[in-house]
Amino acid sequence: MSIAPAPLKLEIILGSVREGRIGPVVSNWYAGQARLHGGFDVDVIDLMDFAIPNDFSSHPDTTEFSRRIEAADAIVVVTPEYNHMPPGYLKTVIDASPKSAWSGTPVALVSYGGMSGGLRAIEPLRVVFPEIGAMSIRETVSFHGVRDQFTADGEPVDPDGVNAAVVIQLNTLEWWGLALRDARALRPYGQKVIA
Ligand SMILES: Cc1cc2nc3c(=O)[nH]c(=O)nc-3n(C[C@H](O)[C@H](O)[C@H](O)COP(=O)(O)O)c2cc1C
Repeated sequence: MSIAPAPLKLEIILGSVREGRIGPVVSNWYAGQARLHGGFDVDVIDLMDFAIPNDFSSHPDTTEFSRRIEAADAIVVVTPEYNHMPPGYLKTVIDASPKSAWSGTPVALVSYGGMSGGLRAIEPLRVVFPEIGAMSIRETVSFHGVRDQFTADGEPVDPDGVNAAVVIQLNTLEWWGLALRDARALRPYGQKVIA
């Protein structure tokens, strides 16, 4: 009989911080789906709660954000698309935290926007994450025309397809999360293995 592993510590990063944003609708819905999945102990990092300045070096919010990332076994980034890119502040907080906080951790990407569903915001992040040792998984979830995609209760207007896509994404994230948690426990990330 195999023993079920402890749930993975999942941090969902909400990447939009502007007044009137729709981001919390998307991240709250995603957090609910992740709790239903059962493989994760779910928390949300709302970047609105972190006032990391352009000179981010020694700011206390940098320390706290980095601590949360360091403790995570898996990360989901929920990002809008602004001018074909993710928001600048999202990049700033990634830059502010040390690579070591992210190294050996899987990252899943969720996007939303206008016509393109925020897909153009996802691709630049795929360039960033390997640079800090994070593993961005293939499966994405996206919403085009996002303001028409949720009811007043914060549920998707058309839940079948998108909820199924989330399960597929979370299954892959869980797979990588378990594999990399074991790997990190076995040896420090990037350490020489064979003498
Ligand atoms: C400055 C700005 C630039 C935007 N650029 C794009 C874009 O390039 N492509 C797109 O599909 N939507 C674009 N949008 C639409 C946003 O994706 C949409 O407003 C979304 O609600 C933004 O997320 P938020 O409300 O959580 O901030 C842009 C919105 C803003 C405010």
